[in-house]
Amino acid sequence: MRFYIKTFGCQMNERDSEKVEAILFENNWQQVENPEDADLIIVNSCAVREKAENKLYSELGRLKFINPKAKIVAMGCVAQINYEKLKHIADIVIGTNTIDRFYDIARDKSKNGVFILDKMTDPDHIFPHTSRISAFVDIMYGCNNFCSYCIVPYTRGREISRNKDAIIEEIKQLIDKGTKEVMLLGQNVNSFENSKNYRFVDLLYDINKLDGLKRIRFTTSHPKDFSKELALAIRDLDKLCEHLHLPFQSGSDRILKLMKRGYTKEQYLSKALMYREIVKEGSITTDIIVGFPSETQQDFLQTVEVLKTVEFETSFSFKYSKRPLTRAANMDNQVDEEEKLKRLNYLQKLQADITQKKLKAYEGKTIEVLVEGQSKKHNGFSGRCRQNIVVNLEFRDNITEGKIANVVITKALKHSLVGKVQGQ
Ligand code: 5AD
Ligand code: SF4
Repeated sequence: MRFYIKTFGCQMNERDSEKVEAILFENNWQQVENPEDADLIIVNSCAVREKAENKLYSELGRLKFINPKAKIVAMGCVAQINYEKLKHIADIVIGTNTIDRFYDIARDKSKNGVFILDKMTDPDHIFPHTSRISAFVDIMYGCNNFCSYCIVPYTRGREISRNKDAIIEEIKQLIDKGTKEVMLLGQNVNSFENSKNYRFVDLLYDINKLDGLKRIRFTTSHPKDFSKELALAIRDLDKLCEHLHLPFQSGSDRILKLMKRGYTKEQYLSKALMYREIVKEGSITTDIIVGFPSETQQDFLQTVEVLKTVEFETSFSFKYSKRPLTRAANMDNQVDEEEKLKRLNYLQKLQADITQKKLKAYEGKTIEVLVEGQSKKHNGFSGRCRQNIVVNLEFRDNITEGKIANVVITKALKHSLVGKVQGQ
């Protein structure tokens, strides 16, 4: 049997799609690049912005048109909340908490229908992987923060930490299969809790002890819970990479309050600058929303100020999108689309200049790169440095996947670096 899978959205969705792929491979299914060749078509959906949700509906329509014989599965965040609508478009609707039943449902025609649960049956279950050098590992599921713009607590449910032993066992299995880097995933990893006296930093210390593993990364940190202890762990643990993704969303205290973020601009800045101070060679990236309801030009300028003060290596900025079920959807003074776009363009231009300055500073430096494989865009190998910047390698002799190489940076491009392995 042959399957085709298309994934929208974040790293959690990428990991969920990987789980499905690995489960199907274990059962001797074959993955195809062309949906016309598939018996089963799977679309993993994202609900975080309206545009992503609309893409799901048009993609399902397109896929059904080009391959009417295939069975169609809609899974992921839109499936979890909009199953009533999707059950008329897809043969099977699988929510974010029912992936463990995927194969059982997908292989059996009599099981077409909707499969949604509020909670996962067994969060400690170890799903298989297909990845090699770098692998995603869930450490927690869901979110309890209910930021007023965000649909995630509804699509992924309440926060639940996986048991530390299950996480460590999963990483050990990955190491045995050749994995060198793990990316620990959670909506808010700082609130990971195995027990009262075993928290996220304790988990990092234990993972750092695992032989054979070269690198540890994590995402996402919530600023309200980001601590000096974690910054010190990033400085002190040899495997833990010097990169922090710390979304600030807005620089205006008034907007932050309406967003229910739980920190002020000053509190955010003091944490970001504390990280810069402790982790000298570290990089920091962020997420920003422009045009949240009632955001004025003055509010927006506060966001600009944070961008200029922290000088993020990269930022991901988005126009506010009204989401069902969220508090902000009913707020007055929604900002018009044209104004949102103007603010977004301004911010993205400013960020491009900052990114360029940051990348240029790497020219002539020697940095450590984990070679991840052949680059799709660039002719040769590529990998990432500890700061999570993509590095394309100039020469290919003596380079193999999974190797840590010292690379001299020869050139900064728009979003990546070019370098050659030292000694070549
Ligand atoms: N509109 C726009 N951006 C959003 N995000 C989350 N919800 C929305 C929304 N309703 C952004 C936030 C978050 C990132 C993953 O997506 O910046 O950090
Ligand atoms: Fe959404 Fe806020 Fe939870 Fe992040 S912390 S997933 S933005 S509710």
